[in-house]
Amino acid sequence: MTATIIDGQVIANRMQAEIAEQAARFKEQFGYPPGLGAVLAGDDPASAQYVRMKRRACGKVGIASVAHTMTASSTQEEVEAAVRQLNDDPAIHGILVQLPLPKHIDEERVLRLVSLDKDVDGFHPENIGRLAMKGREPSFTPATPTGCMVLLKEVGAQIEGANAVVIGRSNIVGLPVAMMLMKANATLTVCHSRTRNIADIVRGADIVIAAIGKAEFVKGDWIKPGAVVIDVGTNQIDDPAAEKGYRWVGDVEFEKAKEVASAITKVPGGVGPMTITMLLHNTMKAATRIAERVMI
Ligand code: GUN
Repeated sequence: MTATIIDGQVIANRMQAEIAEQAARFKEQFGYPPGLGAVLAGDDPASAQYVRMKRRACGKVGIASVAHTMTASSTQEEVEAAVRQLNDDPAIHGILVQLPLPKHIDEERVLRLVSLDKDVDGFHPENIGRLAMKGREPSFTPATPTGCMVLLKEVGAQIEGANAVVIGRSNIVGLPVAMMLMKANATLTVCHSRTRNIADIVRGADIVIAAIGKAEFVKGDWIKPGAVVIDVGTNQIDDPAAEKGYRWVGDVEFEKAKEVASAITKVPGGVGPMTITMLLHNTMKAATRIAERVMI
């Protein structure tokens, strides 16, 4: 079997075109655009690049954005003040606190401050708690895990009753995507750095979500024939044959896995474009909820 290659960029482009239409209608109706506020603290170049990409995507779909950019030596009070200001700003409907924050900042205290109405990243502890619980719904779900779920639905993966294996348990991807799969009635296994016999566990998986951040960690012969594979990893590896001397690979051995899986995401161009799209989607949803409430 040769897998369907899941092109996240195509799906993201289609969804972003819909969001652009919604944003235009929103502006026409209310007289102002939806707004996203980003908080970026520290000097991590990757975080700065993510925030730039997110703001550029906002611009493309007609969502206004502002960024509070702070140095690595900013204090807890300064970071919290930026969140409070965005909470109080009626032009801002979604707040994004780019993670990780500098080590001396208490991340939970900052995330807890974000208004639940504006928590478009879904990282407020109350939203994560609601995500974990049966019969409760968070106001928003985190972007990358939501993107994974959209991709599973796009390829028609049967989630209910499936054996789903998540590799990685980060707060940003592994943990929330595991909870979302369980909510969707999958039978869930989470593997991580201390798990024994990962290969055997993955061999029983109908759905594999690889989010461990290690280049080609999941081998092609671990994949069950017909499984759906969502690869969240983006790892840079040296490649003297490449123009830049490196190339990007996922957490899965793509070339071998695609011969066995029924569907597999590309890296790059799989989950990556969906992350930004889900943030835009959540911001649009937040703006609509807030504006409609103001009108009543
Ligand atoms: N850092 C890495 N991924 C993310 C994300 O999706 N949201 C935020 N806020 N920070 C991140």
